[in-house]
Amino acid sequence: MASLGIFSLISTLFLVLALATTASSSKVLSPNYYDYVCPKALPTIKRVVEAAVYNERRMGASLLRLHFHDCFVNGCDASILLDSTSAFDSEKNANPNINSIRGFEVIDRIKLEVDKACGRPVVSCADILAVAARDSVVALGGPTWAVQLGRRDSITASKTTANNDIPAPFMDLPDLINNFKKHGLNKKDLVVLSGAHTLGFAQCFTFKDRIYNETNIDPKFARERKLTCPRTGGDSNLAPLDPTPSFFDARYYNDLLKKRGLFHSDQALFNGGSTDSLVKAYSSNAKAFWTDFANSMVKMGNIKPLTGKQGQIRLNCRMVN
Ligand code: HEM
Repeated sequence: MASLGIFSLISTLFLVLALATTASSSKVLSPNYYDYVCPKALPTIKRVVEAAVYNERRMGASLLRLHFHDCFVNGCDASILLDSTSAFDSEKNANPNINSIRGFEVIDRIKLEVDKACGRPVVSCADILAVAARDSVVALGGPTWAVQLGRRDSITASKTTANNDIPAPFMDLPDLINNFKKHGLNKKDLVVLSGAHTLGFAQCFTFKDRIYNETNIDPKFARERKLTCPRTGGDSNLAPLDPTPSFFDARYYNDLLKKRGLFHSDQALFNGGSTDSLVKAYSSNAKAFWTDFANSMVKMGNIKPLTGKQGQIRLNCRMVN
């Protein structure tokens, strides 16, 4: 009898211990994560993002893209911010990022100010990227959402994974759908998150083939784009992703209806396929676009976060502690 009692006591203890361990390393993020540890964290990030966007409106677009390119490579773990070491090549040198992705100096400034405001380094670089993306969208007139927090920072990066997992502007719809699926995102997430192309700019080489060789394009639009994107050369010349690149509106979808998508991958979303109806719906309902964009951003931000004792809180976002 006595041994049975001891047995059940021990198994109860084991159960409690197991539950406690699961809870502490649970993958659940929370919007209130910094409320007690550092209530000044979020207002500080917002202040620095607003100043950066005020200084250059395109920076809001660049910060949004930075979070996307972080999340699509082994999850939202700030791996994109790491410089090369003897152990790994930086994701910054991967094809989708090199001479293209920007905003690193703003992230450095945010990290400096946040650590100062908190009195110690408690806010992860991965969370800074997620909040900066949200604050950028808000600063450019878009929707807001509660950012889930508590991500930790990776201790490694992968240029190869960045090359393989970030979608390319030359992709067709099935490849885009597959790519998003691999990251746990569905067709609707693909269409709504592509709406981020209501902001920012692209280099000529990313859409040259489309404006010179494709037929599902408005000829007037192609002519206009050719003025600053010659058949040879001018590869880094910039064009706006939609007619209002500093405003978070639904123009991107309206333009797709008129065959004025800048990338092959943009127009693929409205080219007689299964996503046509979603594009049409968002083009005439900016409110639905806003709501769904906010929800899909939260979903993207939840891709494979490091939590609990995984990873670390970096002291400098560019290097492992
Ligand atoms: C669906 C697949 C996507 C493809 C193929 C794609 C591709 C691209 C390319 C090629 C550029 C221009 C880069 C350059 O010329 O230097 C760009 C810019 C941009 N992308 Fe995407 N993208 C995709 C999805 C997304 C998503 C999901 C987001 C955010 C949620 C996003 C946000 C942006 C922003 C804001 C810019 C402008 C950046 C700036 O002006 O600095 N994109 N994208």
